[in-house]
Amino acid sequence: MTNLHTIHTLSDIYVGGAESCLDSLVAGRRVIVITDPNIDRLYPSLVHRYEHIIVGYGETSKTLITVQNIYTQLMELGADRTTLLLGIGGGIVTDITGYVAATYMRGVEFGFISTTLLGQVDASVGGKNGVNVIDYKNMVGTFAQPRFVISDVEMLRTLPLRELRAGIAEVIKVGILGDSELFGYLEQHANDSIFSHSDIMQQVVLSAIRLKVDIVERDERESGIRRLLNLGHTIAHAIEKCTRAVNHGEAVAMGLSAIAHASVRRGLLATSDCERIDSLLAAFGFEITLPVSMADILREVRLDKKKSGDNIRVVMPESIGRCRIVEMPFSEFEEMFN
Ligand SMILES: NC(=O)c1ccc[n+]([C@@H]2O[C@H](COP(=O)([O-])OP(=O)(O)OC[C@H]3O[C@@H](n4cnc5c(N)ncnc54)[C@H](O)[C@@H]3O)[C@@H](O)[C@H]2O)c1
Repeated sequence: MTNLHTIHTLSDIYVGGAESCLDSLVAGRRVIVITDPNIDRLYPSLVHRYEHIIVGYGETSKTLITVQNIYTQLMELGADRTTLLLGIGGGIVTDITGYVAATYMRGVEFGFISTTLLGQVDASVGGKNGVNVIDYKNMVGTFAQPRFVISDVEMLRTLPLRELRAGIAEVIKVGILGDSELFGYLEQHANDSIFSHSDIMQQVVLSAIRLKVDIVERDERESGIRRLLNLGHTIAHAIEKCTRAVNHGEAVAMGLSAIAHASVRRGLLATSDCERIDSLLAAFGFEITLPVSMADILREVRLDKKKSGDNIRVVMPESIGRCRIVEMPFSEFEEMFN
């Protein structure tokens, strides 16, 4: 059993037992849970305590059709502006719940119990929500802060290894972009057995949340420093567009390695730091060899880029724990990978 830690920021974030803090957070409120079938099956005592709405799995469920279905069910249940929506699940559930809550009757209060590692260190923190439109991820959404987020690392015990690794890729990203101590801590515990140690996982989750919170507090609307959180993601998103064989975390691992090598070539990052990044990714079982050609990846990046002119903003590592945002012409970006 881990201790409860609280971070008071734009939302109140509780890292520790979900059951122990939920009752007091929702006392006296009508609560409607939004969750997915896995959480409904694994945590019935939590879900069935309240009225609940079940959504489907995966990115194909993160759509306006799902949102409309939820609005309809909320109306049938007679939910009004005093109702609190509680998203219990990973990033898919919390992104949908946040969007529905921000828009239903012009906004109702909401909270999350985040149940994936990726959700706990990233998706549930910072107030971004949204859904996909056709093939475009997160095209529609809002900035809206949940009243509370509960991240219970004990719930990660039921999460499949591949999903745990997807989350650890984002934690490694956090270490590279702003927390060399966290990176070092991961190096000390770098293998899959880390996932069965709740005390270590709680430390890791807390550190990653603290860095994200610090960045979001300074730039909630992503007009500056929050962009640092996109480290490795330009390449990662392009890989995900090219192939469905890798998941988001696996693509992020490849993106982190690719941008670290590009940074070395540009004279920004020491080779030894780049080697540490590759070694840590390898220790967690990530494949860093690209599954598609760099030419295909760059074509996807260029397609994405059409929306914002000829220049591209790239987050480049300068050392473990420090990155900078560099704006460059797209041709220069391409050269970094040739
Ligand atoms: N809003 C943001 O700032 C932000 C940031 C990063 C990612 N995201 C979004 O997050 C989404 C991905 O989230 P994810 O990786 O959490 O995926 P997910 O929500 O699809 O969860 C992964 C799988 O794990 C299952 N699961 C969840 N918790 C479990 C548990 N405790 N035990 C067993 N199974 C469990 C789910 O049912 C699902 O099958 C993407 O859509 C991405 O765009 C949002």
